Amino acid sequence: MKYILIDCDPGHDDALAILTAYAHPEELRILGVTTIGGNQTLEKVTENARRILQFLHADIPLASGQAGPLVKSLHTAEDAHGESGMDGPVFEKEDYPLVSDNAVVFLKEQIMACPEKVTIVAIGPLTNIALLMRVYPETKEKIDCISIMGGGIGHGNSTELAEFNIYVDPEAAHIVFHAGVPIVMAGLDVTEKALITVREIESLKEKGRVSRMAGELLGFYNESGRQYGFTDSPIHDLCAVAYLLQPDLFQGEYQAVDVITEEGCARGLTFADKRLMCDKVKNVLVLEEVDRDRFAAMLIEALERLDESIS
Ligand code: RIB
Ligand code: CA
Repeated sequence: MKYILIDCDPGHDDALAILTAYAHPEELRILGVTTIGGNQTLEKVTENARRILQFLHADIPLASGQAGPLVKSLHTAEDAHGESGMDGPVFEKEDYPLVSDNAVVFLKEQIMACPEKVTIVAIGPLTNIALLMRVYPETKEKIDCISIMGGGIGHGNSTELAEFNIYVDPEAAHIVFHAGVPIVMAGLDVTEKALITVREIESLKEKGRVSRMAGELLGFYNESGRQYGFTDSPIHDLCAVAYLLQPDLFQGEYQAVDVITEEGCARGLTFADKRLMCDKVKNVLVLEEVDRDRFAAMLIEALERLDESIS
């Protein structure tokens, strides 16, 4: 059993990551969900988190976090995720409760109250997590690892060199990568191989309530991905959960990862020091390969589980 906290900016792939985690209560105990401005404004991503949790009839505490990054102003991904941040499905009016608008305090309280170490699943910009590390450093020894979707070794999507979650808040990412907490990094190197095919998306539309909703999410997300050259859909954030459920889906190596924060074309670039004489702590497991078929099967099976368990 892993006790997890999910920090997210739903976001189509965030939603699928939450659904998959929720489908595995015997392996992942979700202590809480927190939101961060990213794919859309904090207000919109928080509404989307409420919609997902309400759709699941979940009883998971939800707290909203920072509206934007530590230094610069928020840069959203409306082109990819739509005006709502999670375009596609139509959800009932959400009235799912928010337990706090201070995610950092909420995270600290959950971590310190948990009898076991906690895993943080960070699948949006890292602002909340960076503040947690700085304001409440005592939480570090209670964190088993931070499973991040973010970055890419010399590989970007927001710019040629910077991945969105890092690009939005490179200063936060720098704090997290240097916090001395074990990190699993699902960067674009692996997440752009973690594809759900058009045929697999179509198959969801003929199944149960949860699969159909996921099919509507993926229908929009697949169409939107065409503008970036994708035919099938990379489910970036799901990698950060899938690793916790089945680490052998992935291959990677521990590296010393750093982030560029200076102004210029490389701002938000994540890179690894691979020199033989590198004496830095290699605290980041950089995932590089994924068994796509088994990855897709994990999502489809998780949705089938929820079809059965949630009316
Ligand atoms: O670059 C992909 C990441 O940016 C994912 O977390 C997606 O949800 C967006 O936040
Ligand atoms: Ca995300």
